Amino acid sequence: MILRNFIPAMMVIFMSLAGLTGCGDEAPTDDSAAVMKNTAPIAKVQIQGDEPEVAPANEESTAMEADTEMAAAGSGNVGKKTYDGICIACHGSGIPGIPQLGDAAAWAPRIEQGKDTLYEHAITGYTGASGMPMPAKGGNPSLSDDDVKAAVDYIITNSQ
Ligand code: HEC
Repeated sequence: MILRNFIPAMMVIFMSLAGLTGCGDEAPTDDSAAVMKNTAPIAKVQIQGDEPEVAPANEESTAMEADTEMAAAGSGNVGKKTYDGICIACHGSGIPGIPQLGDAAAWAPRIEQGKDTLYEHAITGYTGASGMPMPAKGGNPSLSDDDVKAAVDYIITNSQ
């Protein structure tokens, strides 16, 4: 069942990757590698959630391969990046009262609320028993909802 959905999904992904990276559309310039690199996050967001589990690939490679690898790595990669970029400031800071990454005891009652509640609190903001605010999207409104959800998944996975 998964495979039947996966193959057409991959075709769409690769067609859109080819379009986004401009392969064959424009004459290559010296900047083409940089352009491909810059377009990679767009492709990454598009396919998020459609991916079954695929082994993470080597990060060092050409820009074209990196697009595919980011797609293959799925939300785990986005989640870690988002966490390392934003959430770590509080959830990896050791500040008392803020549930820290890896602190299973602190996260267990929160995880019990269900993922949807955690997603919502992370996206729209939340102040609970700690009395300290969890800012909406960690204080970075330019994050997509999916980026934030991926970061929540990353925190949960590493805090059980
Ligand atoms: C400025 C500090 C700060 C940043 C940055 C921050 N958080 Fe939080 N977060 C908090 C605090 C404080 C709480 C605890 C709120 C409470 O329960 O009173 C919290 C709680 C949470 C919870 C649990 C909510 C619940 O219902 O128990 C989740 C999930 C969460 N944060 C996700 C994230 C994610 C994902 C990011 C990065 C995008 C992030 N946080 C960035 C301070 C922060």
